[in-house]
Amino acid sequence: MVRGVTTRVFIDGVPHEAEAAKVSVFDRGFLYGDSVFETLRTYGGRPFALPEHMARLERSAEAVCIALPAPCADVSAEVESAIVATGNPESYVRVIVTRGSGPLGLDTGFEAHPLRVVIVGPLSPPPAEAYERGIGVVTYRTQRVAEATEAAGTKVGNYLVAVLAMRNARAAGASEALIVDGAGNVVEGATSNVFVVRGGRLCTPPVEAGILPGITRSFLLRVAAELGLEVELRPVPVGDLASADEVFVSSSIRELLPVVRVDGRAVGVGSPGPVTLRLYRGFREKVREVMGLSE
Ligand SMILES: Cc1ncc(COP(=O)(O)O)c(C=O)c1O
Repeated sequence: MVRGVTTRVFIDGVPHEAEAAKVSVFDRGFLYGDSVFETLRTYGGRPFALPEHMARLERSAEAVCIALPAPCADVSAEVESAIVATGNPESYVRVIVTRGSGPLGLDTGFEAHPLRVVIVGPLSPPPAEAYERGIGVVTYRTQRVAEATEAAGTKVGNYLVAVLAMRNARAAGASEALIVDGAGNVVEGATSNVFVVRGGRLCTPPVEAGILPGITRSFLLRVAAELGLEVELRPVPVGDLASADEVFVSSSIRELLPVVRVDGRAVGVGSPGPVTLRLYRGFREKVREVMGLSE
């Protein structure tokens, strides 16, 4: 494989070429989505917010009673060395911990040996056009799989609702789906957090709404505070999208993406707005600062 664009998979710490990486069909992650995971990226070749991602992994695992197979510090060290060993200029990293293999059936009363997998691949962020012109999204009414369970707000492997929501998005020529809960509030994206700007004020659903507390979301909230932006953490009724001046989504890989169409209707003037652009610039600058990058 060409150095610089390699995907490598580390299963319980053992490196494999992507095609050769295999796990058992009896693994609970495969059978039931009985797993937790994290997705992160590098800047300047080093992982961004690794302690925050590891802390969330630990919280997710605890919520669904999966024992992390190694201390967080060891998993962090493994992620760092996996990135270096893979050798891409910038990497996408996924860390997965499953409950391990067991007998068929939902009973968790077996001696579990959780499995850990680290996938490191080349980072492929959205094209520049997505940032310059913005993206379209669709709304998707549903109850989250994990809603009202211990797993609410955690990053568990079962993403079927998000997968179905993204099918709708793709069919409509959109790039993300915004999940609308039973109460008619926009909760988050299929794989992102959502922000709305009205009258210069930034608004995003609170953690209590059952969202995944995004690492990018909290970083952006810090940046917003530093920029002196007014921020409101409150439920966002789906109707607020139509009357919003600006909407954007955030995630580790996409950072901050302006949303210019919701269900085919333009948001604001139909192009990325000034608050979104200001925050995006602030975000990039802050990342460079915390990662000690010069340009
Ligand atoms: C459901 C959901 N919400 C929010 C996010 C954004 O989280 P982060 O900023 O930590 O990547 C993700 C990321 O994959 C997600 O899957």
